[in-house]
Amino acid sequence: MKTELLPADHAGIQKAVELLRQGEIVAIPTETVYGIAADATNGTAVKKIFEAKGRPQDNPLIVHIGDLAMAEGLVAEIPPRAQKLAEAFWPGPMTIIMPRGPRVCDEVCAGLDSVGIRMPSHPVVREFFRLGAVPFAAPSANLSGSPSPTNAQDVFSDMNGRLPLILDGGESQVGVESTVISVAGDQPVLLRPGYITKEQMEAVLGEEVLLSPAILEKLKEGERPRSPGMKYKHYAPKANITILKGSLAQFADHVKKAADQPGVWCLCFDGEEKLLPVPCVTYGIKGDGVSQAHELFRSLRELDERGAQTVYARCPELDGVSMAVYNRLIRAAAFRVVEL
Ligand code: TXA
Ligand code: MG
Repeated sequence: MKTELLPADHAGIQKAVELLRQGEIVAIPTETVYGIAADATNGTAVKKIFEAKGRPQDNPLIVHIGDLAMAEGLVAEIPPRAQKLAEAFWPGPMTIIMPRGPRVCDEVCAGLDSVGIRMPSHPVVREFFRLGAVPFAAPSANLSGSPSPTNAQDVFSDMNGRLPLILDGGESQVGVESTVISVAGDQPVLLRPGYITKEQMEAVLGEEVLLSPAILEKLKEGERPRSPGMKYKHYAPKANITILKGSLAQFADHVKKAADQPGVWCLCFDGEEKLLPVPCVTYGIKGDGVSQAHELFRSLRELDERGAQTVYARCPELDGVSMAVYNRLIRAAAFRVVEL
């Protein structure tokens, strides 16, 4: 299949809408990461997403809507907690898991009785809906297992020949995937951290949001994740990454011992590269989760492009937006974390 890469102007977006409505898949920008969209009510179309990505069939997809009226039939009800969260954070980088409605196809939900819904804020997605896009299922536009793409070129590297159209809408602003919160049970549970933080959602809900155990550590053998996506090796570059927890001085000392081996790189914060004895890729400002989220996936891809084999990574904080960064980075590092 020939893959077209078009600017996300009026003609490009119109073409994407037509393909979507014909049951094709298209890659589009969102404010979090790029996604591969298919009509959420069309099982044959949604199957094409799984094929193009090489994604396991038991990992459910998020359904994207343009306004609340579009949720009709996709969810069985909009629970009061979802209503509050939607009012506060939609359109924006947050997905709410709600009881499933009859219009979503089985392929989207992967056998669950719930469905994830998100209303993106990206101007290209808003225009996509204005020009007639139907509610669409969309995972991140990477090959299953590799870092999510935050620009059209990275989508092209993974997806060339696997789908008919990629819309280029520039760089994704947030850089990590949406926050996923479930309100389908008795208590709200954070399933995947993102730009909208646990603290922000607690302030809106006026109650505690539970943390799914898979977020900050590896699941124990046989444990079933609440969010199926959390069990897969994810975001992983080809290099072996180890996160080193400690001060910059301790980090530099540790790296020095390995500095004479080939292919050793560091993934560090802006400005720290001057103090480290091996080549470095940076991923944002120390203590600033927003800038780290924006840079992380591009930095992971850059390490591969530069041929890094062994990577030592500086550790982000565990709260606020940094929680999302740590959650992605420990997966990229296959949970190798060393306390210095
Ligand atoms: O920012 C985003 O959310 C991007 C853009 C394209 O919108 N999409 C995205 O989709 O990250 P994906 O498929 O890469 O991640 C969806 C996550 C997975 O971890 C999946 O297991 C979880 O959401 N998920 C989806 N539906 C679920 C459900 N009903 N219950 C629990 N988890 C669910
Ligand atoms: Mg993904």
